[in-house]
Amino acid sequence: MAPAHPKTYKAYAFLEKGGPLKPIVVDWKDPAPGEVVVKVLACGVCASDEMVKGQFFPTQAYPRVPGHEIVGDVVAVADGEKSWKTGDRVGAGWHGGHCNSCRRCRIGDFVTCPVGAACPTGIGRDGGYAEYATLRSESLASIPTDLDPAEIAPQLCAGVTTFNALRHMQSTPPDIVAVQGIGGLGHLAIQFARKMGFRTIALSTGTSKKELALSLGAHDFIAGTASEQAAALQKLGGARLIMCTAPDTQAMSELINGLDYDGELLVVAVAASAIAVPVPPLLTKRVVIRGWPYGTGSDCEDTVHFARAHDVKVMVEKFPLDQAQEAFDHRATARFRAVIVP
Ligand SMILES: NC(=O)c1ccc[n+]([C@@H]2O[C@H](COP(=O)([O-])OP(=O)(O)OC[C@H]3O[C@@H](n4cnc5c(N)ncnc54)[C@H](OP(=O)(O)O)[C@@H]3O)[C@@H](O)[C@H]2O)c1
Ligand SMILES: [Zn+2]
Repeated sequence: MAPAHPKTYKAYAFLEKGGPLKPIVVDWKDPAPGEVVVKVLACGVCASDEMVKGQFFPTQAYPRVPGHEIVGDVVAVADGEKSWKTGDRVGAGWHGGHCNSCRRCRIGDFVTCPVGAACPTGIGRDGGYAEYATLRSESLASIPTDLDPAEIAPQLCAGVTTFNALRHMQSTPPDIVAVQGIGGLGHLAIQFARKMGFRTIALSTGTSKKELALSLGAHDFIAGTASEQAAALQKLGGARLIMCTAPDTQAMSELINGLDYDGELLVVAVAASAIAVPVPPLLTKRVVIRGWPYGTGSDCEDTVHFARAHDVKVMVEKFPLDQAQEAFDHRATARFRAVIVP
C-alpha cells in the first residue's frame, strides 16, 4: 500500500532576487516518470545557496526553494521506477540529474549534459529547505540508515566536492596538499586530505581556527595573507596542490606562488571575478590552474563510504525548518555547517 502523504507541505523559498526566505505552501504532486518524492530528514546550508538568492544563473526562476545537501526517505515513486522504492533512504546534492545518453554524459561530463545543466537541485528544481522534495531518480545516492541524516547531508555537496576533487588531481600521497579557507568545504577537505595520506596544510585568514584545524588532521596551519601563505608554503618545498575554498580571487592569484613544480591550483570556490595569473610560475614551474564541480550520486556514495571508513566527520549546527532564515544567516559563522532538520 502506498504511504499516506499530505495534500500540501511547507517549504521556505526565495520569492525574488535578493529577498529573504519566506514560508510557502506547496501542493503535493505525484512524481513524474524519472522522479521520486522524498520526505526531507535534513538539508545542509551551503555557501552556494547564496547563488539562489542572488540569481547567479539568470535563467533561475522564482519562487525557488534552495537546498542541495538533502537526506530523505523515499515516499513516492513514478510508475516504472527501477532504482528506488518507498522507504529507501537517499541523498541528493547539487547534481540534479543527467540523461546518460548524450555525448556529454558519455565522456563523463554530467554537469553540462542538457538534463544535468537544467536541473541542479535547489536551482533548476526546488531543493531541500522543505518537508518534501521531488528529485530525479538518477541523481540520487543510497544512504545508510544507521547514520544521523544531519551529519550526512553536508557530505552530499561540501563532502563530495572536496573528496571527488582531491581524488581526481595529479598529486599522490605524501605530497603537500594545502586547503585554503576553513569553512563547510574546508573542514572536510582537511580531513579527507589527511586520511588520503597527504601532508595536509590548512590555510586560514586568521589564527582563530588553528587548534581546530590541527585537531581535524592538518599537519601544519598557516594564517595570514595569501602572499604570506605562499611564502610559507615555499619554505616547506611548495604545495603540490592548493584547494581554494574561499571565494577570493585575489588570494587565489597570490597562492599560485605557493605551488611546487607541476603543482595544481584547484578552484572549488564560486566567484564571479577573474583570477590574475602570474606568468613566471606557469613557465618555470609548469603549474596548472583547474577547477572541480561536485559529483554524481555514485560519487556521493563513495564520499559517504570513505568518510565512514576513515571517520571523517561533519561538524553541524542544527536548525528546525521554521528557522530556515536563521540557518541561512548563520551559515558563514557556523562551525561548520548549518543544517535544517524539518
Ligand atoms: N565547486 C563546487 O561544486 C562547489 C560546491 C560547494 C560549494 N562551492 C563554493 O565553495 C565556496 C565555499 O563554500 P563553503 O560552504 O565552504 O563556505 P563557508 O562555509 O562560508 O567557508 C568559506 C571559508 O573561506 C574563508 N574565506 C576567506 N576569505 C573569504 C571571503 N572573502 N568570503 C568568504 N569566505 C572566505 C573562510 O575561512 P577562514 O576563516 O579559514 O579564512 C570561510 O570560512 C563557496 O564559494 C561555494 O559557493 C563550490
Ligand atoms: Zn553546495
